[in-house]
Amino acid sequence: MRKVYLDHAATTPLHPEVYSLMCRFMKDTFGNPSSIHSFGREARKWVEEARQQVADLIKASPEEIYFTSGGTEADNLAILGTAAARRKKGNHIITSSIEHHAVLDTCKYLEKNGYEVTFLPVDRYGMVDPDDVRKAIRRDTILISIMHANNEIGTIEPIEEISRIAREHEVIFHTDAVQTAGKIPVNVEALGVDLLTLSSHKIYGPKGIGALYKRKGLRLLPVVHGGGQEKKLRSGTENTIGIVGFGKAAEIAARDLEEEHDRTKRLRDRLVRGILEKIPEVRLNGHPEKRLPHNANFSFAYVEGESMLLSLDLKGIAASSGSACSSRALEPSHVLTAIGLPYELIHGSLRMTLGRANDEEDIDYVLEVLPEIVNRLRSFSPLAQKHPVGSAG
Ligand SMILES: Cc1ncc(COP(=O)(O)O)c(C=O)c1O
Repeated sequence: MRKVYLDHAATTPLHPEVYSLMCRFMKDTFGNPSSIHSFGREARKWVEEARQQVADLIKASPEEIYFTSGGTEADNLAILGTAAARRKKGNHIITSSIEHHAVLDTCKYLEKNGYEVTFLPVDRYGMVDPDDVRKAIRRDTILISIMHANNEIGTIEPIEEISRIAREHEVIFHTDAVQTAGKIPVNVEALGVDLLTLSSHKIYGPKGIGALYKRKGLRLLPVVHGGGQEKKLRSGTENTIGIVGFGKAAEIAARDLEEEHDRTKRLRDRLVRGILEKIPEVRLNGHPEKRLPHNANFSFAYVEGESMLLSLDLKGIAASSGSACSSRALEPSHVLTAIGLPYELIHGSLRMTLGRANDEEDIDYVLEVLPEIVNRLRSFSPLAQKHPVGSAG
């Protein structure tokens, strides 16, 4: 059976060049990068080369890159580290209602510990209004955290405008760029951010490794304490194998960015066009233009997302409903709720995210299989019987 992987926003396979480099490194280099002997120095050399590669991906300098165990930890470090470092200045944080749980739940944790958090609404496309950010700023605001692009619906946020507002008010600005780095250009200077989160496994690198970009001179307190690695900001012996793989993945992502961007966007547009043409009563969620090139998120009326996923899986197609991390729990997606989708359409949602593995034949296969699945599931739905599909409304 044909296998089609359309869940690249959840994770990506290792790039073959990343895999071979990691194998070579694992075989020959085991030193602790903090050791001063030749084994340690050799490992240190690899780690610093990877730091440079990651920095290059986002046009930062290597001293501004701090390796963490992934995007989740980098988000935690950005938020908790700023909250602790700026406690005397204030206790108010601004974020959006569509952030990844790594940001949302960290902010909720702070709320329970004496901080105040404003969760900004978004419009029907999932866009944060910079004016709302401006209005929410108070004298005691210490941090604004708004994601670069949303992992479920792919909407790209107006980060440059928001960072300008943050700077005018001398508020630290963090963005979670887990879904954008390596997919669209990410330049920390142009974006005007102070802190930026990265994750390796979304860009064909290994899992369990990520990084926080911290602008030079910005004060942050550590969350993990110990041996003082990563310039005392993130203790713990470095995940050298992961770091080396992440570095290579970042180098490849930067090298191929334009080509992959255009290729996946063409395929995604073919997929979106095909679905909207072939299936009635379906809507595309997220912004029509300002969206990630590989993201397509739909809501199908009178169909249950989980049933669609299982039926697709039986045909060898991997997609997701709601956000990948929470798709085990059948709670309605907080992102689709925030854009104002009614409950039934939230439960009829399907996310397909494309990547290097996909070609035109994959898309055509999905366009052949999905309409049949939706038709079959609708034929079981009492709601579809009451509102025959194809009729207006
Ligand atoms: C926007 C966003 N932030 C953070 C994360 C968490 O990253 P990690 O899996 O590396 O912890 C994810 C993963 O899905 C994500 O999509």
